[in-house]
Amino acid sequence: MWWENAVFYEIYIPSFADSDGDGIGDIEGIRSRLSYLKAVGIDAIWLTPFYPSPKVDNGYDVSDYCAVDPQYGSLEQLMRLIEDAHQLEIKIIIDVVFNHTSTNHPWFIEAASSKESLKRDWYIWRDSPNNWESFFGGSAWSFDEITKQYYYHSFAKEQADLNWQNKEVKQAVLQVIQFWLELGVDGFRFDVINNLTVNDQFSDNPIGEDGRQIHRYDVNQSGIMETLKELNEWIKEQNPEVFTVAEISSDNLSLINSYTDEAHFDTAFHFNLGSMKHLDLQNLQKLTKEFQEMSKQNKIPTLFFNSHDMSRSWNRLANNDYSLYQLFAVFVLINRGISFLFQGEEQGAADYEAQSFEDIRDIQAKNKYREMLLSMSEEQALLEANQVNRDRSRGMIAWNNDQDAGWIGIGPRNPEADHILTLYKQLIQLRKEEGPFQTINMIKLQEACLSYQTENLHIILNFGKRKVQHPLQVKMSTLFGRGTLSTDGNLVQVPPKACWIGKEHL
Ligand code: NOJ
Repeated sequence: MWWENAVFYEIYIPSFADSDGDGIGDIEGIRSRLSYLKAVGIDAIWLTPFYPSPKVDNGYDVSDYCAVDPQYGSLEQLMRLIEDAHQLEIKIIIDVVFNHTSTNHPWFIEAASSKESLKRDWYIWRDSPNNWESFFGGSAWSFDEITKQYYYHSFAKEQADLNWQNKEVKQAVLQVIQFWLELGVDGFRFDVINNLTVNDQFSDNPIGEDGRQIHRYDVNQSGIMETLKELNEWIKEQNPEVFTVAEISSDNLSLINSYTDEAHFDTAFHFNLGSMKHLDLQNLQKLTKEFQEMSKQNKIPTLFFNSHDMSRSWNRLANNDYSLYQLFAVFVLINRGISFLFQGEEQGAADYEAQSFEDIRDIQAKNKYREMLLSMSEEQALLEANQVNRDRSRGMIAWNNDQDAGWIGIGPRNPEADHILTLYKQLIQLRKEEGPFQTINMIKLQEACLSYQTENLHIILNFGKRKVQHPLQVKMSTLFGRGTLSTDGNLVQVPPKACWIGKEHL
């Protein structure tokens, strides 16, 4: 399938490229950058939500699934974008947010209008709440003054969860998917698809030793797999080439596998790399071994260090160090798996940091700030909020050095941006020439040096401060990087914080 070795590129629309100078990225901005993306070498774009939305959660609170928010452009412009991308042989997948709708969605407005509403059961209502907590903090239940019941929202109170037990909801979702398939999209990223409420037990969640709630009864519920399998089978009946990826916010391999095995998604995001808080080589090795295990079972992992939900790898993992950053680029591109890059990553974009509460746009960070303010100073609360602030990776892309801020500040441009861009282009090119990478073997971590083999390439990533000597079992030549082969070819020396890719002579 086309997606098996693809390099995807996530576009967080409001921060990507602004074509009309209103400080908000838009569809035409993306269209104007298509040739740039082609030159980078990407195969597919993942568009984050562009639907009409009150933007409490920046578009993940959808109020119309079959339209484009006027801030971003029009449906016609989106169709033209899809057409132009296809001309360049770039596929487009879109984010679909079916766990919840905005409370401004006509479905919810109708459901909330009366207990007798025909759409009442499209959402989840109870006379009294249980202890479930929202993933953005606070109770997951909000009281509706008009009908005197609580509705469930696993995220913000403006994001009401749909009731996936209701057959009409499933039907309505299929219609939305049909709509986008007819417009030519090539796949879907299913947002928090493990949160679907598919049973009605509503048992209280247990509390862990650290005092935090364990989300036992509100995610990954029995029944979810059957529901999603039906959905995926229906999609493949429409067109087997359509790609589906599940977002389940997990780094648990067996859980990730269950969403492909049982729910029939093509793949599910593996969050290990994304949730790594700092460079952790043991963890990187463990993950590489998981990729190996998946490959043996014919499953294709996802590879990503960055997205709109986490601090950028430039700060988080590479600690602002180009030498380290390049090693991550190699890992994400010259490896077994589907690569997902996040806008700006290919230029080494850095985190944007809010300087005050007024700067914060992310609802999760706002909530954290308010909570912290109850027990600490404004300055400390800001520090705490910035620890979880998803705005960090959402700064406007700095296409040049004198770009103005927009709806959010600018993600600082990397002084080495051009250099990093060249590196990404080279690696993507190499991925195309040497791939597809179907296997991964010989995974080894020695001190700070991770090495592995994919097909006939040997990759050595030396994260350490000392040069390493790596014995070679077979004859190889240097394909990429800074290793020096010994004259007898039995050894390669890789300098500190450098990589080497060798190609086996077959
Ligand atoms: C996951 C998305 O990536 C995130 O940005 C959003 O806030 C939640 N799902 C809720 O839709």
